Amino acid sequence: MRILSGIQPSGTLHLGNYFGMMKPAIELQDQGEAFYFIADFHALTTVHDAARLRRHTHELALDFLACGLDPAKAVFFRQSDVACVVELAWILSTVTPMGLLERCHSFKDKTARGQAATHALFSYPVLMAADILLYDSDLVPVGRDQKQHLEVTRDIAIKVNELFGPVFKLPQPVIREDTAVVPGLDGAKMSKSYDNVVELFADERALKKKIMGIKTDSTPVEAPKPVEGSVILDLFRLVARPAEFEAMRADFDSGGCGYGDFKKRLLNAVWDYFEPMRRRRAELEAQPGHVEEVLKEGARRAAAVAEPVIERVRGAVGLGGCLK
Ligand code: ADP
Ligand code: TRP
Repeated sequence: MRILSGIQPSGTLHLGNYFGMMKPAIELQDQGEAFYFIADFHALTTVHDAARLRRHTHELALDFLACGLDPAKAVFFRQSDVACVVELAWILSTVTPMGLLERCHSFKDKTARGQAATHALFSYPVLMAADILLYDSDLVPVGRDQKQHLEVTRDIAIKVNELFGPVFKLPQPVIREDTAVVPGLDGAKMSKSYDNVVELFADERALKKKIMGIKTDSTPVEAPKPVEGSVILDLFRLVARPAEFEAMRADFDSGGCGYGDFKKRLLNAVWDYFEPMRRRRAELEAQPGHVEEVLKEGARRAAAVAEPVIERVRGAVGLGGCLK
């Protein structure tokens, strides 16, 4: 069973990224052959500053390793180090109907928020399909916002198989219902584009400012508080022990505790949850060259899997080789 996922180095990681994608991916590294990569080609759709892209890539690698990605179990690499993915994306784009991409929400959402409508942003799902198909992936752990991209990937793979014979396996998304959409501080989906995130490795003061600043209703301290749609409770569920969560829920129902108290409990739980990861991150940071070594070794192992696949595709579509 091959498991693959990627994440863009386009900003600081937040709880949505961790619970929606990283944690499920890390848990799956024990269940099969895992391939996880830093999608730097994809990040070029938004980051046009070489130093910034390299810094984000390095930080993301540190974050992922600190959170528990184990390079002895999972192949961890930089997308651009196995550059034939772009060749595959080109080949896939020759059979991808425009209408399939025109229906994608992410292009519409990103351009509506002011991102430049470049060709790369439009064809982003084709490169993502290439990422997945280049490694003969079976399972792809992602948050719900990536579901449509998995459907596009399957549609493209089906099209190739119809035209050229059985070239690709059809991958399945793995979307965990309980963390498919982690809410942000304002109740909308947590996203770096909405300025509503709780960062994984924020310092204590920054974290406190964010969590104590969550907007709440004006229910008096003594009165019961609405449980449905409470960002505090929804986030607390992710980081608290079950008994602590049940206790907070009961305090919401019974009244007598104010929102300030709930926010403090949430703050402490977030801080404690990420304590071992902060420690691990500091250790990794103190080993210069370590991240680069991990990524280089990952790229070597990833290339060994990708090369026979791209050869298979070239053969199937008629590239390279000579007539006998
Ligand atoms: P952002 O929305 O902050 O730009 P990305 O699109 O880079 O995040 O997402 C990276 C990964 O994290 C994807 O697999 C995505 O599904 C997941 N993810 C991002 N935000 C959330 C969220 N709020 N809830 C669940 N998963 C999320
Ligand atoms: N599009 C994904 C995101 O924005 C990142 C990504 C690129 C990806 N290629 C992938 C995820 C392949 C899973 C599989 O988060």
